[in-house]
Amino acid sequence: MTKKTTAAFEPALDYVVVKIPRWPFDKFAAADRSLGTQMKATGEVMAIDRSFEAALQKALRSLEVKGQGLLWEAPSWVSSADPTEFIDKFLSGAPTDDRLWRLFAALRRGAPVDAIHDRTRIDRWFLRKIARIVRFAEDELQGRTPTPALLRTAKRLGFSDADIATLTGMLSEDVRRLRTQWGIRPVYKMVDTCAAEFEAVTPYFYSTYEQENEAAPLPGPKAVILGSGPIRIGQGIEFDCCCVQSAGALRDRGIAPIMVNSNPETVSTDFDASARLYFDPLDEESIAAVLENEGTPVPVLAQFGGQTALNLADRLAAMGGEIAGTSADAIALAEDRRRFHDFADALGIPQPPGGTAESPAEALGVAKKVGYPVLVRPSYVLGGRGMEIAYGPDDLARYFRSALEAGTGRVLVDKYLRGKEVELDAVSDGRDTLVAGIMEHIERAGVHSGDSYAVYPAQNLLPAERDEIVELTRRIAAALPVKGLLNIQFIVESGRVWVLEVNPRASRTVPFLTKVTGVPLVSLAVAVALGSTLADQGYARDDGLWPEGSLVALKAPVFSMAKLLDVDTYLGPEMKSTGEVMGVDRTFAPALWKALVAAGLAPARSGKVLVTVADKDKAEVVPIIEGFHWLGYDIVATAGTAALVRSVGIDVTEVRKLAEGSQDILTLIRSGECVAVINTPTLGKTVDRDGFLIRRAAVEARVPCLTSLDTALAVVTALRASAVTHTVAPLAEYRAQEPVTAAAD
Ligand SMILES: Nc1ncnc2c1ncn2[C@@H]1O[C@H](COP(=O)(O)OP(=O)(O)O)[C@@H](O)[C@H]1O
Ligand SMILES: [Mg+2]
Repeated sequence: MTKKTTAAFEPALDYVVVKIPRWPFDKFAAADRSLGTQMKATGEVMAIDRSFEAALQKALRSLEVKGQGLLWEAPSWVSSADPTEFIDKFLSGAPTDDRLWRLFAALRRGAPVDAIHDRTRIDRWFLRKIARIVRFAEDELQGRTPTPALLRTAKRLGFSDADIATLTGMLSEDVRRLRTQWGIRPVYKMVDTCAAEFEAVTPYFYSTYEQENEAAPLPGPKAVILGSGPIRIGQGIEFDCCCVQSAGALRDRGIAPIMVNSNPETVSTDFDASARLYFDPLDEESIAAVLENEGTPVPVLAQFGGQTALNLADRLAAMGGEIAGTSADAIALAEDRRRFHDFADALGIPQPPGGTAESPAEALGVAKKVGYPVLVRPSYVLGGRGMEIAYGPDDLARYFRSALEAGTGRVLVDKYLRGKEVELDAVSDGRDTLVAGIMEHIERAGVHSGDSYAVYPAQNLLPAERDEIVELTRRIAAALPVKGLLNIQFIVESGRVWVLEVNPRASRTVPFLTKVTGVPLVSLAVAVALGSTLADQGYARDDGLWPEGSLVALKAPVFSMAKLLDVDTYLGPEMKSTGEVMGVDRTFAPALWKALVAAGLAPARSGKVLVTVADKDKAEVVPIIEGFHWLGYDIVATAGTAALVRSVGIDVTEVRKLAEGSQDILTLIRSGECVAVINTPTLGKTVDRDGFLIRRAAVEARVPCLTSLDTALAVVTALRASAVTHTVAPLAEYRAQEPVTAAAD
């Protein structure tokens, strides 16, 4: 980092770094949350400051678990006011992901450091530091009127404006105003690993409340890129890829990229990925401070860092920040499902019929009007309450009850359309729009786009449907208007196209589409955000759709289910995967086969296939069973499914169900003879204990478990064709052989 010292140089640090893992339990409320030798985290955050207290609080701010700040307590803790009782109940068992908050809560109740140490064996040094934070909050801030001295000390200990506001009974804006008035603002220190003994050359900074600022505003044209924070389900490494590409695109245009991010695992936080890196939380307070330090106005790119960055746009704009590209208003419009619904209605954009409900009676009314099944979700998500499909009034009433318990006031009810789901990424300058490609999901709508297998180009769209999709995209992009990237999901059902969701930002599929089409989506979006047009860039097309090449690419999701105990693995509208792989070839089947192999889901070439499906799926499973049979697999099935298999003239071994008091089925899965399990969940989320145990056994024994018949059918197709051939070549070679695709004008 100094370009002078050698690798043997002993680092001297004048800062403290705290790392906190990010666990996926906000998504899996029913999972076993205990921490042990099995890793369960999906990502992590890192924070740097001059003291442990401040670094810890900054790391907390970076975690982005909704509503879970320093002062958060689980509802079940509230009744245990006595410190001894609290320790007995909540700090005695195996550690869980929320242990840090349990420590805060115990200390808040006055538990002595020694008592906590005795139970948890956490080093007293850490406990004393954490106690200092809690004592300061309780004794100095709670209910007090801030003075300059008090505010300065609180900031040095790492208290956020928001927490100070809550404790002192003010608004965050008031705390901010007081700080400005009293000149209490952060300075930036360079990470140099040598305690300033040598001059470091890496422009890598963290904020702290001290005197001397080491980060003078960067000279020349520059722009700030908001990163995406910790890797979690729904916001993975793809946004890091987009941020890094946007930094490159800025550099190409002679603009210095300034990155803000809190995730040490990513390339975007490599100190040479940008001209300057601020290693700080991605929240309003720290971005505002960065902008102030750089001397406004600096354009801010908020469309590459996933939802984290996008969610900041509104408030940054309100504070006078300059959001480059799609405006904060347009973003807010697309993000608010209710507002967007009205907007799309006015434009004549078809969307699944539905409505909002604030009481069970209202929800039942909406469902009755549009007809079951319906897709239900809270209008904002708290405590892991996600989306579900309700097949009847009972399902709906049960969902509503648990949504109310989780603190969700309003529920959105939409007709569940069981059509083909397609998705696209596009870039628009507000006038011209270029769709880089349309991907078709293998699984019907109802399996989250992040958990679906997707194929580019779409294989089963009629030309009229494709034209309609591009036309709708152009209309939405022009009306919002979008200046930059845009991702839209559609459902195509009996010749009609419905718009599911519009995201005015980089999406999970941008890296995938960029790789396979060669359209530099991020770089075009950067150009457009900074005022250029698609025409200037040579990418405006009359038909609005980038021509398909001769490649077929498959995206397959990858899950961490084996590591997350007690999580049901069936695919539904709530995303569960933590990663993805891509398979490319000249035709569909070999590309899918490659993706299956890469995802670890390709069944062995012979062995037993266990089939046990819900009654609703019996008719549809027949061609799949026939496929496996003709490929030479032995079919094993439970009674109902076995009768069906026999009726089509295929030999089958019957295995008893768990509910019939037999463990045979689990023994079979674990035996190594079973090479694939096809199991579909029974309707709704009602107890499906047998299915759950079967799916878990398969996941834990690493046997491919197919919970959607669409995936199962695709696997049969891939198995059939992979027996034929697939080719292996570098991606560049695959692409080079494509027909030349010059931009039309
Ligand atoms: N009306 C609907 N009919 C059928 N499936 C739906 C419907 N609405 C959503 N879905 C399914 O749920 C998934 C998630 O919904 P979406 O609106 O994209 O929310 P988000 O991506 O914000 O979680 C979609 O990918 C789709 O498979
Ligand atoms: Mg979606």
